[in-house]
Formats: sequence, C-alpha cells, structure tokens
Amino acid sequence: MCGIVGYIGTKQAAPIILDGLARLEYRGYDSAGMAIYDGEKINIRKSAGRLKILENLTRGGESMPGICGIGHTRWATHGAPSDVNAHPHFNTSGTIAVVHNGIIENYIQLRKKMTARGYQFLSETDTEVLAHLLDYYYKGNPLEAVAKVLHRVEGSYALGIMFADCPDQIFAARKDSPLIVGQNEDGCFIASDVPAILKYTRKVFYVDNQEVVRLRADHMHFYSVDEEETEKTPVMIDWDANAAEKAGYDHFMLKEMYEQPKTVSDTLTPRVKGKEIVIEELNMTEEEIKAIRKIHIVACGSAYHAGVTGKYVLEGLARIPVEVDLASEFRYRNPILEEGALVVVISQSGETADTLAALREAKAKGFKVLGIVNVVGSSIAREADNVMYTWAGPEIAVATTKAYSAQLIALYLLAMKFGKTRGKLSDKEFSCLLTDLRRLPDQIELLLNNKLKIQKFANRYIGAKDVFFIGRGIDYAISLEGSLKLKEISYIHSEAYAAGELKHGTISLIEEGTLVAAVSTQPDLYAKTISNMVEVKARGAFVLAVTCEENKEIEKAADYVIYVPETNPYFANSLAIIPLQLFGYYVAVGKGCDVDKPRNLAKSVTVE
Ligand code: G6P
Repeated sequence: MCGIVGYIGTKQAAPIILDGLARLEYRGYDSAGMAIYDGEKINIRKSAGRLKILENLTRGGESMPGICGIGHTRWATHGAPSDVNAHPHFNTSGTIAVVHNGIIENYIQLRKKMTARGYQFLSETDTEVLAHLLDYYYKGNPLEAVAKVLHRVEGSYALGIMFADCPDQIFAARKDSPLIVGQNEDGCFIASDVPAILKYTRKVFYVDNQEVVRLRADHMHFYSVDEEETEKTPVMIDWDANAAEKAGYDHFMLKEMYEQPKTVSDTLTPRVKGKEIVIEELNMTEEEIKAIRKIHIVACGSAYHAGVTGKYVLEGLARIPVEVDLASEFRYRNPILEEGALVVVISQSGETADTLAALREAKAKGFKVLGIVNVVGSSIAREADNVMYTWAGPEIAVATTKAYSAQLIALYLLAMKFGKTRGKLSDKEFSCLLTDLRRLPDQIELLLNNKLKIQKFANRYIGAKDVFFIGRGIDYAISLEGSLKLKEISYIHSEAYAAGELKHGTISLIEEGTLVAAVSTQPDLYAKTISNMVEVKARGAFVLAVTCEENKEIEKAADYVIYVPETNPYFANSLAIIPLQLFGYYVAVGKGCDVDKPRNLAKSVTVE
C-alpha cells in the first residue's frame, strides 16, 4: 500500500527510483510519480495507472537527469487515482516536493487554515497539505521546517521530502507507516520496504516512529521530531537476493507456493530440539505458561484465518480457551482482557495498521503481546513484547501463501508447547504429533507435484459466477482461506460457510452446476460433512471434495475428489490448503488476471 523510494548519490536517480518502485509494485497501487532535481529545479512526472506508464513517460528515467530524487506508487485513499492526485506533490512555487504513505487525519482543518493563508490546492489528497505546510514553515532550515510540520499533523505517515534550495539532501520521516533508509558507497536510499533497495545495499536502518532522517550522498543523520540528533545502528539484511525475484516462475504466487515445504521446515526445525519444542522467543517460564487463562488471537485477512485454525488447535491440544478477533474489530470494541490473558497478534508484514493498533490497545491495558511476524524489524515486531518469527522470507505476491503456512506452524508449535507444559499432552501423544509435524514439508511437496490435475479442474471454472466452500471445525477455517484465495485473485464471488450453517440461508443460492468445495479432513466430522454435500448435490451443485486418503466413503457424495495425505487432524490445514491455493491460482491464471497484483488490493495494509 503506497510505495516510497528515494535516492541521493553519485548515480542518476530516476532509473534507480523506477527500479525500486517496480520492486514495491506488489504492495498495491494505482498511480505513480517521481520528483528529480536537475541541477536547477525540481521536475515532477506522474501518472495514473501502472508504473509502465511512468517508465514510458520518462524513457526508463533517462529523460529525468539528476542525482537526487523521490518516487512513489500511490494506493488511493483521499481522491480518485488520477494524474493530479498522484504523488509527488509540490508547494505552489514548485520548490518543495513530498511523497507520503499513510493518512493525515487532521488534513481538513489544516487545509482550511492553509487556504485562509492564501495557499491554493490542486489535488484532493491529504498529502498536498504537507507540501504547503512545509512551504509555510521553511525559513532556510529544512530540518526545522520538517519538524514543525510533524508537530502539526495527526495520523500516520512515511515521508520523502526534497527542497530545491538544498539539493544536496533529502529528508525521510515516519510515524506508523513503514520506512527504511539504506546506504552504499554510491549514495543513500529511502524505501518503504527492503526489496526496493536490496539490489543496491544490504545495510539498512529502520526509521523509528517520529524520527527524521537527513540523507546526503555520503551520510545520513537521524533526529528526533524535536531536532535532537540520535544514534542509530544499521541492520545487515541477510536475505538471499533471489528471494525477491521470480526465479523462472510465471508468478511470485506460484514461486511462493512452491517455497512452502522450505518455509514450513524453516519455521519448524530450529524450534524442535530432540524430543522437545523450544521457543526461546516466548520468554515465558513454565509457571507463566501454566498461568495462562485465555488466549486472544488478533489479526487481519489470511493471518486471521490462521488464527481461526489456531483456536481449534490451541483449545484442542492445550485446553486453553481462545478468542479470535479481526484486528479492526478488536481495537474498537473495548475488549475485556482479564488476568491471565495472553494476546497473540499475527501478521506477515508486521505493518498492518489495524493489527498494530490492536497490539497497542492490548499493551495499553497492561497485557503482554506475543507477535507472530514474518518481516524482521517491522513495527509489530518492534512493539510486541516477544516475537516469534515465521521464517518465510520475503513474500511478494499480494495473496499470501507461504507466510500463511508458516503462521500455521508457529501456532501448532505454541499449542504443543503449551499442551505439554500444562500436562494436557502425554509424552506419547506429543511424540506422535512431533512425528506428524516433521512429515509436513514432504507431504506439502507431494501435493504441489499434483498441480496438473488441479490446473485441469480449475480450467473448468474460469467462467464460474459463485463458488462456495464448506467445512466444519478446522475444515471451516480451511474453507475461509480457500475461499479468500479464489476471490482475491480471480474476482469470482466466493464464500465460506460452516457446513452446518448452510441450511440457514445460503443453500438458497445453489443452482444447477454451482461449484461447492467441501473440505473434510476431520475424521469425527466426515459423516456430518457428507450429509451437507448430499444436500447441495441434490439441489444441483457440483461437489469438489478435499479429504484424507482414508475417507473413500466420500466418493459416494462428491463429483470430484482431491485426496491429501494422512496427518494428525490438527495439522490438516497445512495440507488441505495446498490444492485450494493451486485451484485459486489456476482459475485466476486461466482468466488472465494479474495474479500477483490483484486489483484494488495491497500487500501491506498500512491504513485502517
Ligand atoms: C492484506 C494481504 C493479505 C494479508 C492481510 C493481513 O489484505 O493481501 O494477504 O493476509 O493483508 O496482512 P498481514 O501482513 O498483517 O499478515
């Protein structure tokens, strides 16, 4: 959601900025622009639509000379995705340019004040107010102007700012929206995320909340919002550079699905020591684990779906009551957290605005928060009391696959650890579970190798209007994620229902030929789900079943069956989700959709 890239150094800035913006495309955007200082003045080029348009407009950046600039991909919030609303935004004299990610919540009041002072606004954005405010406060000291503006604005921001008067420096600042800065021997960089600049440098600094950075070609200085200089330690990024490339796959999503055996193993293996599960990052003593009375899981999107699975697994294996909330609901419902509550927030990006706000809400109430996070150094990782990382590496496709799979593993590990510590799992049960956990990577691999069968099946549903996913218990959680995968990338209307709930309304939507995907991996519930399959089949549905190899009985009720290998029913999600991810992917590919960057969606949702 909105991408920022800035550069100041010895090389031509525009091609570097375009390259960085292209690597942030996955975040989701609908317009793009750049501001480059050409030795005399700042030039801006911007356009609604894909980055390709900006690339053509500037001949890959060649037509914008200059060694200092800022660029932006905008995901529209205030004002339509148009040329004029695209960033950067100028002050009236065109001497100050700003790019912004986030929302300035008091922009209406500020806009009124600035209009009364004679400033004219060209766009509908909240960002333009920043350019005029900077103009108002700029009296020859750019740092002072930036600091004064930050004292006036409410809301969230990651900013890149340049002043024509001071062409040897650019500024960065952030509050609640992600931003990093980096450095190599040729110059300094601003970026929303590591992949944008990984090609140029591995030395990055995570900008803190309400921190300002002054970047020059050969060094950076960090300041508090009160202009006091601060010391900062760089982080060396050790990702494999290929991790952020497609590596021969048609799409990042396909590549990331294929990375799942490794992701699962990377999240699991370091935490299994002999016959024990050791989660050092938990920082909890046995007594503290025994004292947990309730777990609150809070997340958004697929991370929430992982949380729904987590509820079943934690309640089943550790016998701890679990409440799962959407972060956007949790933060505003004044949640009741009582003594003994453990709050777990789950987030791939570690930047989702609602999840971050939920974390803060829990901390403000005096409760400890455990983050299950993928992106190292992200806001949630830094603010949570303890962090359990999912070692999935960079995930680029908007629709998550490998990070979701890794989140499931983190939750299984927690459930087993808690179950064992609290005496709810015998040594024998624990050891059987561990054996099944260890088999998951190979079993996932096996399912991925079956992709042709699923591709053929998916091709039949390219023209589908509605698809329903049904299941009970963990199978309902799997259905939620399977349905989301299909709808978000193929734009086919799809819904997930607890199978038993179908009769209470939704069954009226079933028509001749409607596809119903029935997930059935829980032996205790096989017969119940079969009854629901029969009911929809009798009303004309075509029933696809995803079930375990032993459940041959299902063939009587299904039109098409995909079998997944045997595992402990608590871990079935990790296997059953694979064919559903492949199904969503191949339907979207068959329809010619932009699989990695679905319309209107953003990878990292940094505004609420
Ligand atoms: C967006 C992404 C989803 C993701 C959700 C939560 O909607 O497209 O894939 O599940 O945000 O993101 P998080 O980074 O907090 O896991």
